[in-house]
Order: sequence, then C-alpha cells, then structure tokens
Amino acid sequence: MIHPSSRGLTEPFHVMEVVKAAAARQVSHGDAILLCVGQPGTPAPAPVRAAAAAAVTGEVLGYTVATGIPELRWSIATEYALRYGVPVDADEVLVTTGSSAGFQLVVLAAFEAGDAVAITRPGYPAYRNTLLSLGCRVVDLDVGPQTRYQPTVAMLEALPEAPAGLVLASPSNPTGTIIDARELAEVARWCEAHDCLLISDEIYHGISYGRTCASAREFGAGSVVLGSVSKYHSMTGWRLGWLLLPEPLRRPAELLQGNLAICAPAVSQAAALAAFSVEAREELDGHVARYARNRELLLRRLPELGITSFAPPDGAFYAWCDVSHLTDDSRRWCAEVLDATGVALAPGIDFDTAHGNRMMRLSFCGDTGELDEALDRLVVHIAR
Ligand SMILES: Cc1ncc(COP(=O)(O)O)c(C=O)c1O
Repeated sequence: MIHPSSRGLTEPFHVMEVVKAAAARQVSHGDAILLCVGQPGTPAPAPVRAAAAAAVTGEVLGYTVATGIPELRWSIATEYALRYGVPVDADEVLVTTGSSAGFQLVVLAAFEAGDAVAITRPGYPAYRNTLLSLGCRVVDLDVGPQTRYQPTVAMLEALPEAPAGLVLASPSNPTGTIIDARELAEVARWCEAHDCLLISDEIYHGISYGRTCASAREFGAGSVVLGSVSKYHSMTGWRLGWLLLPEPLRRPAELLQGNLAICAPAVSQAAALAAFSVEAREELDGHVARYARNRELLLRRLPELGITSFAPPDGAFYAWCDVSHLTDDSRRWCAEVLDATGVALAPGIDFDTAHGNRMMRLSFCGDTGELDEALDRLVVHIAR
C-alpha cells in the first residue's frame, strides 16, 4: 500500500481550480474572461526574448553554478542601488526557480520543524501551505484596512511569544496594499531585536500607483528579500526569482539549492540578463501604465456592482472586494458567476481561511476592453 505523507496532503490553491473551470468554459462557450489569475497577459520584454533566442542557438545551456550566473547576480544587486539607493553585494543574491523555490529554500535554511512563523491573513495561500508542508507552525496575523492589510509592531507585540519568522508581502497579494517605509523599518527593527527572521516578499515591486515601495534591504542586511521576474517583468513562466540573504543563511541556502534544484533554469538566467535593461524597462513601464488605467476603470465601476468596500490597490494588480451583500460562500458564488457570465473571479477563501467566504479577488492585469466587458456582464448578472 502506498500512503502519501501528511506533508503531501496540502490544501489546494483554489484559484487553479477556477482556472481549470474557465478553460472548460472557453472550450464550451468561447467567452471566458479570466480575472482570477495574477499573471500579465503580455510576453517577456523584447530584449529578453532576443537574449533567450541567442542563448538557445549559441550556448550550451548546461547547469550553472548553484547560486546563479555571476553577471545576473551582479545585475540584480545593481537594481537595489538604482531603485532604493542601497548598495547590495552580488554575494547576497541567490538566483532561484521563481520566488516560490526561493521561499522553500529560506524556510528550509532558516527554520526547524515546529518553529512558529507569522503570516498575514489575508495573504498569499502558498506561504501557509508551504510552511505547513515543511513542518512549521503558522501564526495568523489578522490584518485589515486600518493597517493597509499589513502587519504592525503592535500585532507582533501582542503575540504570546516572538515567532521564529515573519512573512510580509508589499505590495500584498490579494490586497495590493503597500506598507509605509516607516512601518516597515519598525517591523524590521522589532524582528531583529526579537530574533525573528523577516522575510520580505517584494515580487510586485515596480507595479505601484503613486505610493513608494520600500525594500526591507534599506533597513539593514538582516532580513531575507524575495524577488522575481514574474510580475513587473511579465515573465511568470520563465520561473526565475532571487533571494537577498543575510550572511549566515547564504551557504546553507546554496547547499540546499545544489541538492534540491542544482540551479535555476539556465536559459531563463541568460535571458533575464536583458530584463534589467533600459529598453526592457520602457516596455514594462508601458504595461504598468495599462494596469493603472485598468485600476481607474475598476475604481469607477466597482460601485455599479454594489461593491463599495475594497482595499485601496496601491500596487500589484488586485482588488480585494467585500461581496458579503451577494454571498456568504465565495467559492460557490464564483462558480455560479463563471457559469452565468463566463467571467472567472478568485474566491476569497483561498487567501483568508477565516473570513474569505465573503470576499473575492479580482485581477486587473489584462486587456482594458476585456475588463470593461467583464464588468458589463457582472452588472447584468448581479441586477438579475
Ligand atoms: C505574493 C506572492 N509571492 C510569491 C508568488 C510566487 O511567484 P513566483 O514563484 O512566480 O516568483 C506569488 C505569485 O502569484 C505571489 O503573489
């Protein structure tokens, strides 16, 4: 008899079920509009695609060193000087298979089984599921609009004991909210004073609407920073991310990476060398301008759906909406909406295990015309 381990029996990422249902709807009706997924509908920037093509034709593309090719580590480190004015050494950078694999490496490198790690609720579901799979205990910090859905020192002080780690995402998924630089500095200071490893997920940096995204790295080299080319760089499927690591975690994470993955994909590393170029940035900033237009459209039209309570989407491309006037079962409601309208929305239960049944997440990184059309359909459906 084969018995799967308890680690393998993780909660699903429910959005992936919605994506599957939306794909079936597209086959049966040809009218699906996906507002459920957090991935840009655009390809990688042209210089990245050119670099990938050149690498495929001209390079061996064997394994790279576990930490990532030196030029890429250097480019990533240089970004921190450019974006945040903080000098970062290439040695701090470990190139990973998306930030997802980076998160796993940090959990393995920094925590013992049984360690408590605090996360926000609502928050990105894979944190909870990964931490539990890897044997950590999850401590939920209930966050709301009064703190822009971000953790505070007061919340950490209120815990019965300091956790071994804190995961913070700014801009956040599902809310898009950004932590103030001052608050982030205070949280980082508290973590350092309490031997709590701050893991700062900064993978949506570059996508914000008037508010500045501070990096935890600005407040010292004692936190872990998660980065990725998935979102701003429009390269989800290339599976490339990075960690900035404090000195004591660098060698353990390198050893784990060498054993668990050997290295991040060589072709994506070679291509990503072009992701930080001025030319790529111009193209990518064009996408961010479209997200900004979509955000305006949403903010204007959400009240037509009776949705007047939503998090201020400071960054990323999500609106976290209260739909309690429409349902107390977000998963069933999203399935009904897809069935009736072809519009796929993400049920809140994925992101908030306590209160998510009255919430849904809407992603606005797609085409503006499609978003408008989806809102038209939702207005008609809700008026029924
Ligand atoms: C907050 C957050 N962190 C991490 C990830 C994982 O991103 P990737 O592994 O593509 O870098 C996602 C993906 O949606 C996310 O929303």
